[in-house]
Amino acid sequence: MLETIVWTDDGVVMIDQRRLPREEIFVTCRTYEDVAEAIRNMTIRGAPAIGVAAAMGVALGVQQGADFEKVCSTLAATRPTAVNLFWGIERMRRLHAATSGDPGRMIEEAKQIRLEDIAVCEAIGRNGADLVPDGKTVLTHCNAGALATAGYGTALGVIRAAVSAGKKIDVYADETRPFLQGARLTAWELQHDGIPVKLITDNMAGHFLHSGKIGCVVVGADRIAANGDVANKIGTYSVAVLAKENNVPFYVAAPISTLDLKIATGQQIPIEQRAPEEVTHVFGVPVAPENIAVENPAFDVTPNRYVTAIITERGVARAPYEEALRKLASAASSAA
Ligand code: MRU
Repeated sequence: MLETIVWTDDGVVMIDQRRLPREEIFVTCRTYEDVAEAIRNMTIRGAPAIGVAAAMGVALGVQQGADFEKVCSTLAATRPTAVNLFWGIERMRRLHAATSGDPGRMIEEAKQIRLEDIAVCEAIGRNGADLVPDGKTVLTHCNAGALATAGYGTALGVIRAAVSAGKKIDVYADETRPFLQGARLTAWELQHDGIPVKLITDNMAGHFLHSGKIGCVVVGADRIAANGDVANKIGTYSVAVLAKENNVPFYVAAPISTLDLKIATGQQIPIEQRAPEEVTHVFGVPVAPENIAVENPAFDVTPNRYVTAIITERGVARAPYEEALRKLASAASSAA
């Protein structure tokens, strides 16, 4: 299996997701500051992978003997939307309090979070595989695959599990402008696994959803509010509305660590705004007039009424989400 992020004696090693698919380069983060920078600059991205990276960053900080509050606040300030970041830091913070910051225990916990994430993704896959119709195309947006997690993926985990169960499916991957996670990462990952995939530009999604060939949409999530509103990569909302209009089920695959039940609705989810150059340039080449004003929100919020079901490692939640998600959040984990 592809290693997105691993703890080694040299530091935290991650595949550089900015360079894929053209180059497979691994970077080593030796300090918590290196990890914070890797999260900020998208060397590592995807909500669960960011959570694992944050936990490993905290462990590195403790190993360095750095001020614990500074370590946590530096990592927390990297990206605002994916709640897994804060979840990872919080879990490490609890262990720090319980063990007086024993570096060995902190490192073991970070490694354990990584292993759990893989097991959680496999359970999400098992829980979602039945929902994928045989003989149809699955549409996905962004990259919610092995690269976005410690391994296996959430949305792509569901697709992998459906394929393993013998379903004859193929995938349409939205390219996902402006950062091109679909073109660069999802297309690469699925091709690597021999799962049939076609790349489409984002503005083709409506056309194909209307065509009757798409059996379902499966996407990941960065944060899910108590009422089931889902923050995910910019463009997800448009896909969800088009799916509903065309009676195509729209599934969200995410771990329990992506739930933020303290937030009542998606309106309270902070949306990261990214650099204008991501919109005005493609691979460093300008595609817009100089000094053009730009908006670049990295995520949008899909209201719960467009979400057919939320697939987690503990089971599948359907509307009314408030009750269903609360039940899953308090249920014992069957994955890890
Ligand atoms: O900006 P990114 O690449 O970190 O955004 C990633 C997404 O929006 C994913 O769909 C989400 O994190 C789920 S990953 C399993």
